[in-house]
Amino acid sequence: MDNNRNRHMLDLDQLSKVQIEELLGSALKYKDILQRDMKKQDELRGKIVVTLFYEASTRTRMSFEEAGKILGSDVINVSASGSSVEKGESLVNTAKTIEAMNVDVVIIRHPHSGAPYILAEQFESASVINAGDGTHAHPTQALLDLFTILDHVDSIQGLKVAIVGDVIHSRVARSNIHGLLKLGANVVLCGPSTLLPKSTPWSEYYESQGSLDLVTDLDEALNKADVVMTLRLQNERQLSGYIPSEREYIAKWQINSESIGRNCPDAWIMHPGPMNEGIEISESVAKGPKSLIQEQVENGVAIRMAVLKSVCDIRSGI
Ligand code: CP
Repeated sequence: MDNNRNRHMLDLDQLSKVQIEELLGSALKYKDILQRDMKKQDELRGKIVVTLFYEASTRTRMSFEEAGKILGSDVINVSASGSSVEKGESLVNTAKTIEAMNVDVVIIRHPHSGAPYILAEQFESASVINAGDGTHAHPTQALLDLFTILDHVDSIQGLKVAIVGDVIHSRVARSNIHGLLKLGANVVLCGPSTLLPKSTPWSEYYESQGSLDLVTDLDEALNKADVVMTLRLQNERQLSGYIPSEREYIAKWQINSESIGRNCPDAWIMHPGPMNEGIEISESVAKGPKSLIQEQVENGVAIRMAVLKSVCDIRSGI
């Protein structure tokens, strides 16, 4: 990795296994701090963090803002609506305008895959954190997912993780595949063939570390799974035409007490949110005793504290 890329957090493919483990370890320290009455720290005092969101968000945006504020930085939220983006300003010109105000970190969510990479190329000094770009990547979601799994198991090495649903439109799935394989998981992607990649991505690269399989049969994917990650059917990414009907999708691929009960009753259940309860996951499973969905949200703050600290440290040459 070159130094320029290092000060940005664009996706987990840029990180080694050791670097991922360091971030997870750092998040553990921040999770302790978050349990305290008095949470405020000064590790990023004097830093200016901007969230630049061109797409809706509840979890990612709020947890980055909370993380930045707890660490002592000033956090400025910019939305596409209400900014000069509405007057036709390009992404590059918006980015240059923001950097001219001497900010330290820009956290961007954008509907176009690759948008954070354009910012990273343009910025001379500020760091870029990818908060979700199109269907491409969502690295901090994958880090918080790994962190949440590791709260419940000793190691990710050898775990069977089933990722079920709209895989091809999911930036969460792509980043999780990188992270899970680097930590040695056996990942099974499952859904209708129209929502799966045509072949297993990056399989040669990861041969020695984990495994990656594609199946359309839900029972095969869930059989003896340790973790089940459910993905949202992403209607905003033009789902019509990918599935015969919502009813058929529910019958064949919904994660519910029947599909879990006959295959993996002890599996941990995850969903990055927001959920379509009753479509890709039943309410009883989403709110059941094995659900980690609320923990995922909670852990998002600690992970984003760790990522903010890391990019700022790298930028400062620490
Ligand atoms: N998981 C996730 O990215 O949620 P938000 O869209 O609410 O940020």
